[in-house]
Amino acid sequence: MAIDFDALRRRFPLLERKTYLNSGSYCALADSVRDAFNAYMDERLAVGANWDLWVAKNEAVRSAMAQVLRVTPDEVAVTASASAGINALASALDFNGPRRKVVVSDFEFPTHAQIWHAQERLGAEVAHVPSAADGYIPLENFARLIDDRTQIVAVTQVCFRNGARLDIAGITRLAHERGARVMVDCYQAIGAMTVDARALGVDFAVGGMLKYLLGTAGIGFLYVRSGLIRELVPSHSGWFAQQDIGAMDITANRPSRSARRFEAGTPPVVNCYAAEAGLKIILETGTDAIEARVRALTRRCLDGLAAIGWPAVTPADDARRGPMVAVPSRDAAGLVAQLMAQDIVTSFRNDNIRATVHFYNSDEDIDRFVAAMAGHRARFGPRGEGPG
Ligand SMILES: Cc1ncc(COP(=O)(O)O)c(C=O)c1O
Repeated sequence: MAIDFDALRRRFPLLERKTYLNSGSYCALADSVRDAFNAYMDERLAVGANWDLWVAKNEAVRSAMAQVLRVTPDEVAVTASASAGINALASALDFNGPRRKVVVSDFEFPTHAQIWHAQERLGAEVAHVPSAADGYIPLENFARLIDDRTQIVAVTQVCFRNGARLDIAGITRLAHERGARVMVDCYQAIGAMTVDARALGVDFAVGGMLKYLLGTAGIGFLYVRSGLIRELVPSHSGWFAQQDIGAMDITANRPSRSARRFEAGTPPVVNCYAAEAGLKIILETGTDAIEARVRALTRRCLDGLAAIGWPAVTPADDARRGPMVAVPSRDAAGLVAQLMAQDIVTSFRNDNIRATVHFYNSDEDIDRFVAAMAGHRARFGPRGEGPG
């Protein structure tokens, strides 16, 4: 059955007023996500504390997140942020043996490199895979750095600066051949594309729920492949990470047999309400259908920008991009402000402005953005180009 994307769009009231191309920073708010926040408030007023329901909500988020990743709930930790998941995993690794090396790429979001650098104090050696002359990171650049001293390859799926999508399945095959494990940071992809953890073959996946998963800040996830869970004992822990949360046993650390061992303290209850509602929309719509629509919208955006003589830095190849189109500007902050004054919401990182697309965007949104960009080209075009 064809999906009625126009009807879905109407569930995001912000889109009546704004051309919202900023889901890579924070999603537009859905009617049902707002209702979920309100339901939490109503319960707080009516009954005060409702722990049984709240724990059930946390489990509902775990199950829905597992469905999105196409894995089992026992392989998913519900965390407070992507950083919390990365820290919990890092705390379970040993960097004193023969495999001290952590391979990251130059496309990482800061937190995904900084946390691995923080492990240097514990013996880790962090190596950065550089991009090639065309700005992309091909598999051969990973092949040069992943070796028999590598414990983990920690790599982003879609770069937050330029929208390039890396070949995660290829990197994982390479890493596994050399005995290393792989953690993918899929934050800039998941919800806007299918992220099938098993098909990719990764050992770990991390992200959060405020962007394309349509939830809120303050809640994230860590996927850990089932065969690895028991051998990894995080020192970053807490009572909600124990096998029996209710045991209240202060004499020992008895981690859960599931990926819950990577959690810590009291779950982010209100955020679970919002996240559950957001994930429901993603699952009902289906990530394959979402991916196809997002691909068509980013293609339209790339073509439109090329037609006005202001090409994006994001790869044109469908397999090499996610939901982001990044455009170079000599004054990215100024351009984002100008667009904002026209009710076109974008963001910027370094010298690129970022138009990030979700299924609720329309062809008209893209055309409006491109038309506005045409008007700004003389003043805000790429660095090194004279005005004109
Ligand atoms: C690729 C990527 N990783 C990680 C993060 C941040 O994760 P958190 O703030 O949940 O730790 C972001 C946020 O924008 C991101 O884009």
